[in-house]
This record gives sequence, structure tokens and C-alpha cells, in this order.
Amino acid sequence: MPPSFLKAKKSIVPKNKSSSSKILITAALPYANGSIHIGHLLEYIQADIYARFLKLQNKDVLYICASDMHGTPVEVNAQKAGIPPEKFAEKFWIEHQQDFKSFLIEFSNYYKTHSPENKELCEVFYTTLKKKGYIFRKKIHVIYCTHCERSLPDRYVKGTCPNCTTADQYGDVCENCSSVLKAINLINPHCSICGKTPIQKESEHYFFTLSKFSVQLKQWLSQANFQPEVRNWLQEWMNKGLEDWCISRDAPYFGFEIPGSKKETGETKYFYVWMDAPIGYISSTKNYTDKHKTTWEAYWKKGEIYHFIGKDISYFHFLFWPAMLMAMDIPLPKLTVHGFITVNGQKMSKSRGTFFTAKDFIKLYPAESLRFYYASHLDRKVVDVDLDFENFKAVNNKVLVGSLSNFCYRVLTFAQKNYTTIDQIAKEPELTAKVKSLLDLVKESYQQQDFKGAVHHILEIADIGNAYFQQAEPWKDINKSKKQVGWCVNLTRNLAIISQPILPLFSHKIAKSFGDSSFLWKDIKFTWKGKLKEVELLGVKIEKTPNAAKFPLRMVVGKILRVENHPDADSLYLLTVDLGPELGKKQVVAGLKKYLSINQLQNQKALFCANMKPAKIRSQMSEAMIFAADDGTSAALLEASKSPVGMEAHFGGMENAASEVTFDEFKKISMRVKSGKVFYENQKLATKVEDIQVKGLKDNSIVR
Ligand code: 2FM
Ligand code: ZN
Repeated sequence: MPPSFLKAKKSIVPKNKSSSSKILITAALPYANGSIHIGHLLEYIQADIYARFLKLQNKDVLYICASDMHGTPVEVNAQKAGIPPEKFAEKFWIEHQQDFKSFLIEFSNYYKTHSPENKELCEVFYTTLKKKGYIFRKKIHVIYCTHCERSLPDRYVKGTCPNCTTADQYGDVCENCSSVLKAINLINPHCSICGKTPIQKESEHYFFTLSKFSVQLKQWLSQANFQPEVRNWLQEWMNKGLEDWCISRDAPYFGFEIPGSKKETGETKYFYVWMDAPIGYISSTKNYTDKHKTTWEAYWKKGEIYHFIGKDISYFHFLFWPAMLMAMDIPLPKLTVHGFITVNGQKMSKSRGTFFTAKDFIKLYPAESLRFYYASHLDRKVVDVDLDFENFKAVNNKVLVGSLSNFCYRVLTFAQKNYTTIDQIAKEPELTAKVKSLLDLVKESYQQQDFKGAVHHILEIADIGNAYFQQAEPWKDINKSKKQVGWCVNLTRNLAIISQPILPLFSHKIAKSFGDSSFLWKDIKFTWKGKLKEVELLGVKIEKTPNAAKFPLRMVVGKILRVENHPDADSLYLLTVDLGPELGKKQVVAGLKKYLSINQLQNQKALFCANMKPAKIRSQMSEAMIFAADDGTSAALLEASKSPVGMEAHFGGMENAASEVTFDEFKKISMRVKSGKVFYENQKLATKVEDIQVKGLKDNSIVR
């Protein structure tokens, strides 16, 4: 049973006006603080497909975006780079546009939030909200670094988690126990910029009365077409109660000054980046409409707005932003939330070699391979999409290239070479009717933003074409089969039309062979006759998937068969170790005498480094290394009791290197203990069977 506030009541919420034909699509504004990566691209491609679909329906559609330039990270990083924040952000603004273009993402306007239009609109919002009584001032405690002379946002304070005592955690959330933190409560807090201990300071700030919009927001929730996952989050947030929202920040801050703040509080305050960022949707629209003889209001007040966002920024888009829009009497948007991207089943990671910027990726694979793969996985559910590279290769090679592109290319090449002009078309009423019903399904799927469904039905049509062409065997008697080929040529043209939102380049290449530059949905027909031009190659197979990142050591489970004292060194043992069928028995010199007795080592299974360059240590050959963790006073082995001897252990998805390493190279690798497990660059060490264990040592003990 939905809670009572979810039951529809008479509306007090401004209605979405759907009668107008103007539509505006947005994707979240990326921070001008780093490069676009394949995680970002999911959303821009998703929104681009929808925008292109609506354009294909001949609708008046704008696809609007901008770089999000304000806030602490931009300011701090610009300072580190020694350039003014405007310049720093501008560089990424240019780079973002190139990246989007390379993935065929076609914005009507790609603007920036550090703009005169955004400043003006931000002030209009603020003064209107203030006039209506939705802004108040309150003194709060902020964390302040006296050395850097700045207040520190949560991410700029690090310290020990008060909950689980893990060191080196950010002030917003503990990476170890996941508890939500307040920077003020960290143990031993320090400024992440200069390392000094910050103080608490009182500061007066501006707040937006989100709580006054609870009833209206609940009502919106009861009416709109929300994704079920989102509806659940919203219910939870509503049940917890809405807190008023602090919309100001202290100097130094890269953002717009709050008008009158110096007079009112004695200090200049700035709009918090999350206040002006969504207004950036409107100001980017305005920047466009000012140049195109129309107004932003024509879209925002009389049209339909669709926001595409990631699940992490839902709170802003389902609570703060709609409340501000309500206060401004601007109709509310429709929203689509997507999940994150994982790569090969895990979070993207630099150390695993699975973090790809747009620039990295486009060097390896065509844009349409990624567009097609993402489209095949997007169905408006809030689930993560896994970019599994083996699957990516298979989808590209077998489906996109092997089925869709291959059919179109084969038909068009055959027709152009053998007839050039299509002047006869087989009727095929049954098959045509079947295709027509699939075309309706494709359209319906696009409308629902179920791109996975659209791809599915497009492929069904391609399969029908493939089977028909194969059965007609036109190569056997060219003249007899001319009509059938004519039908296939029409089918190819229709496939190009319906694939256009996902595969604009593919579609364009086919359009060119028909003498067109682009298509509209209404161009679909089965009666096209005319002269064909030679078609360009429509897709290429992917040869290889990216190599996984390599960890420099080869880590193998071994069993200690014998322990003796080293004949020439008091502090060393001489071990005989079984490293399994492939590597066999090895002699290992180990400096563990001051920590572990012979009994503690004898017959133990432990982890060894198997690719050390053999070296003589005090007259004895050492052919491998035994790993141990120590905290200065005690040491422990890296245990793998359930894994068979000879099995390798890995960090995350990283492969182990095979080439030899020297002791000096070995020393440079920093592995640490956390909660009894071993980590390297946030990746956990494990065999196929179990996590590697270290018993009885403190967190942050070093493995060597
Ligand atoms: O999370 C982000 O990357 C933000 N820059 C998104 C802003 S979206 C909108 F509100 F501007
Ligand atoms: Zn500092």
C-alpha cells in the first residue's frame, strides 16, 4: 500500500504542459574539472538517442548542456595549476565539446555556467525566492583552515572515522564502514590541502526553505511517471523529513556573489555550485534562444522538459530543483535516472586499467560501437550497466556488424553493382505487414526510452531481411530476383531510418547511397525507387579487447616444507618451499627470525613472490620471496589456507606480471593491510577461492 501522501489529490502543483510541440532535453552538466570518461558517456548517449528520436519525429527539440564550472574542486585545482579558475574551467569546456562530438553527441547548445546569462538568471531566481519568503539567514559552524584561510567543504577535510576508526577518511562518507559523516565529527581532522588541523568557526549563511515545499513535492510524487526505484528513494527522503538547504558558501569560492550579502552578513557570500548549476540548464537554453529568435520561456514555460541524470544526483533533481521551479512558477520537468557504468563487472579503476576517458576509448573503438552497446543495455531501469569487453566485442562483431551492418551493406552493394537503379519491388504483403508491426514496436520502445527494446526489434527486422535475401539467392539469377532485391533495398532504407537515433553515422552513410542527407521517420516506406550510389563500409569488427593492467609481482600460494637456520646469518631462516606443479620446490631466504619461530612457519601455507630475480643472500641462493606484513613490532604471513599450492593471487582484476623483478623494484611496491586483508591501490588481494588474510596486525601495516 502506498503511503497516504502518494494517493492522488487535487493538484496544487503546476502541471506539465504537454500540448505544446516544444521539447527540451538536458543531460547533467559535467564539472569542468576533469575529462569526460566512458561513465559520463552513458548519459550523454542516452539523452542523445532520445533527442535524435524526437527530431526524427520532426519535433521541435533542443538538446541542451553546459560545463559546470563553479565550486571548490575547480577553484582548488586551478590554484594548484597556477591559473585563474575561469581559464582552468574554459580549457575543459573546450575539451568536453570535442569529446562529445567524437561520440556523435549532438547538442543544440553546449554552454557554461560561468556566464553572464547564468549570473543574471541566478540572481533572478534568488531575488524572487527571497521576495516570496523562501530565503532566510542562519549562523552555522563551518570548518576553517587558518593556514589556507578558507572554510573547508566536507571533501577537503580528512581524518579518522569516528565510527570504525579507519584513518584517512573524507569528511562526507567513510570508505570503510560507509557511514555518512560530518566533517566536524572526524577524529584528528586535517585540511586536505595543507595538512594542518582546521578549527570550527561560526559563519552566517543563506538557506532555501525546502521544508515549505514538502506537501507540493509529495503531491508531485503522487502524480508523475517516476521510475519505481526513484519513487522509493523519494518516499524515504520524504519520510525522514526535508531539511532547509544551505545555498551559500564563504570566500574564497569560484561562483557568483550573492547580491547584498556583504551588507547583510559583513562578508561576501557566494552561491553554492548546486544552486547555479541547474539554473545553467535554463541559461544555456537562453544563450541558444537569444540567437534563434525565440525565448527560453517558450521551452521552459510552455514546452516539455526532460532531464537525464545519474542516480547519484537524484536528491538535487527531485527535491531542491523542483522546489525552486515551483517557487518560480516554472512547470516541473520529467526525469530519467540511470545507473553507473562498471567495466568487466567492477567499478572502473585506473590501476586495473579499466578507466577510459573518452579520448582513450575513441582511439581504440568506433563511437557507434559504444553507442550501440549502451543502447542495447538501456531500458529506463535504474540499474548499472556493465561494459564487459568480451561482451562488447561480441555485440559489435556478431550483432552490429555481423547482422545489421552486414545485411545493409550486402544488399546495397549487390543492388548497386548489379542494377544501379531500383525500379521493381516485390509486394510481399505478409512480410511487409510483419515488418510494419515491428516498426511500430521500435517506435513505441524509443518513446518509452526502452532503447534495449528498440535494438531488439530493429534486429528482428534485420533478421527478416537477412533470411529473405538468403532465400531469394539473387546471385543465382540476377534478373529473376530484381524485385526481391528491390524489397530488400527498401528494408535497408527503413532500417537506416529507425537506427538513426542510435547510429547516426551508419544511417547517414546509407542515406547518402540513396541520395539523401538524413531521414525523418515519415520517410519510411516500401515503395522507394531510384538510383543507388555506392555505399561506404558500414562497420568494422573489433579485433582485441584492452589488456588488463599488470601487477608487477607474481604472487603464488606455497607450502613451507622445511625451516632451518641460515648457516651464515643469525637473523635469517632458510626455507624449502613447494610452489606447486609448475614452479616446483624453491629455496627461500627469509628475515623472519625476530618475529616468528620455526614452529610457526613449519608446514604453513603462505603467499610467495615467484618472479624475484634469484639472488645470493649471505652465501645462500634465494629463489623466491615470502610475503609478510609487519607493523614494526610484530609480523604475520599472508595466509591462504583454502587455496591449493601453486594457485595465484591477484589484486582486483589485475593480471600478475611474469617477468623478473629485482629487490629494489620490489621495495617500491606499497601494499597495506586493512581490516585483515591486503590492498594495493584500493584493490583487494585474493585467490579464486578466498581473500588473502593477515591475522593480528593493525590497519596500515606494510606488506613486504
Ligand atoms: O554531478 C555533477 O557532475 C554535476 N556537475 C551535475 C550538475 S547537473 C545540473 F544540475 F547542473
Ligand atoms: Zn589548509
